Amino acid sequence: MTVNADSSNSFDSWRDLPAAQQPEYPDAAELSAVTEELAAYPPLVFAGECDQLGDRIAQVAQGRAFLLQGGDCAEAFDQVGADQIRAKLKTLLQMSAVLTYAAAVPVVKVGRIAGQYSKPRSKPTETRDGVTLPSYRGDSVNGPEFTEEARVPDPRRLLRMYHSSVATLNLVRGFTTGGYADLHQVHSWNQDFVRSSAAGQRYEALAREIDNALNFMRACGAQPAEFESVEFYASHEALLLDYEAALTRTDSRSGRLYDVSGHMVWIGERTRQLDGAHIEFASRIRNPIGVKLGPTTTPEEALALIDRLDPDRIPGRLTFITRMGADRIRDLLPTLVEKVTASGATVAWVCDPMHGNTFEAASGHKTRRFDDVLDEVKGFFEVHKSLGTHPGGIHVELTGDDVTECVGGGDEIFVDDLHQRYETACDPRLNRSQSLDLAFLVAEMYRS
Ligand code: PEP
Ligand code: CO
Repeated sequence: MTVNADSSNSFDSWRDLPAAQQPEYPDAAELSAVTEELAAYPPLVFAGECDQLGDRIAQVAQGRAFLLQGGDCAEAFDQVGADQIRAKLKTLLQMSAVLTYAAAVPVVKVGRIAGQYSKPRSKPTETRDGVTLPSYRGDSVNGPEFTEEARVPDPRRLLRMYHSSVATLNLVRGFTTGGYADLHQVHSWNQDFVRSSAAGQRYEALAREIDNALNFMRACGAQPAEFESVEFYASHEALLLDYEAALTRTDSRSGRLYDVSGHMVWIGERTRQLDGAHIEFASRIRNPIGVKLGPTTTPEEALALIDRLDPDRIPGRLTFITRMGADRIRDLLPTLVEKVTASGATVAWVCDPMHGNTFEAASGHKTRRFDDVLDEVKGFFEVHKSLGTHPGGIHVELTGDDVTECVGGGDEIFVDDLHQRYETACDPRLNRSQSLDLAFLVAEMYRS
């Protein structure tokens, strides 16, 4: 890889277009100094890894694999610790083991991790007790504290975003290739969990079956290397274009541009305007791209997005992440899927059952009902089944900690519990037990 230091090349076409949801930095010179520094830093990921993920997602798009994408709504700088990262990874590995074993499908594992620091906001300001301040836009932009000082966008936070992402990805790579993710460890991921939770006990039974299967294979003389480490990819929303562009490099082998801040990036519901800077930026990079599609998406928009982002119709290039809401998915998804399928494009269809199902509880906490999350996934499976298309995966907000942010689940969280461990920097996440519950239920849907 070589550094793309030439700021006059055509890649900069996005700079002439309107970019939604960008911070207004008070000091443009400071931003330039930061992006120059970022542009000189090493890549977080390599072009070859991005291509490999593209191949894996192609399998999803063609109906032969399932995508599990999950992690925090917003990562936070003060949560970059070994315990928190391990807990998230463990949850994703456990979910993946459940899906792989119970649904007998290869699972492509992608974290919302190592770069998920920037948040689009519905409102530019927030008012508390008559005081109005700029909204918190993620740790990469400003601070969550409700003070004037904290809410001023600070470009130096982009450097901290980079270093936090590096530290996180380094640990993730260590865990996933250094023996921790060895399938023979299926029990150890559950150790601190099994006694306290119904989901943990159900998982333990499944882990015993996996153990038996591994023992059987070993007795037969088979010891596949695939069992000893795991392929795990990093993804985040490509929201702050100054950051993403500073980390976009020309691959010296292919001469193509890659955003080396993460393997896969997605464009959010609020920034997917066809004539906007985000779609233009995404059209120039070769990473696998996701686009969130909310309830207002028309089939024409979906088809135009395909033309812009996947003109060569390469399976694995484009993932549509639908987030319609449990009460609307059955009405809105069929036409989109039908029209896209009829166009001949092969996209991966993934269900985000979180962002269409958020509401405010009487206590003032932003929350989601586990049953709504589940119902949206169910609707997603029903629609794809009826159309003969592939329900390609789920995109969820979760954490490995036992937080109380979403209500419901097997170890039920009640509205009155929400205050106990409500720790999210942005949207409410499934806790570990709710995440495992979801994995078991999705595996059942997949099989049936
Ligand atoms: C998110 O994924 O955290 C998010 C903001 O999603 P969306 O763009 O779908 O609203
Ligand atoms: Co969110």
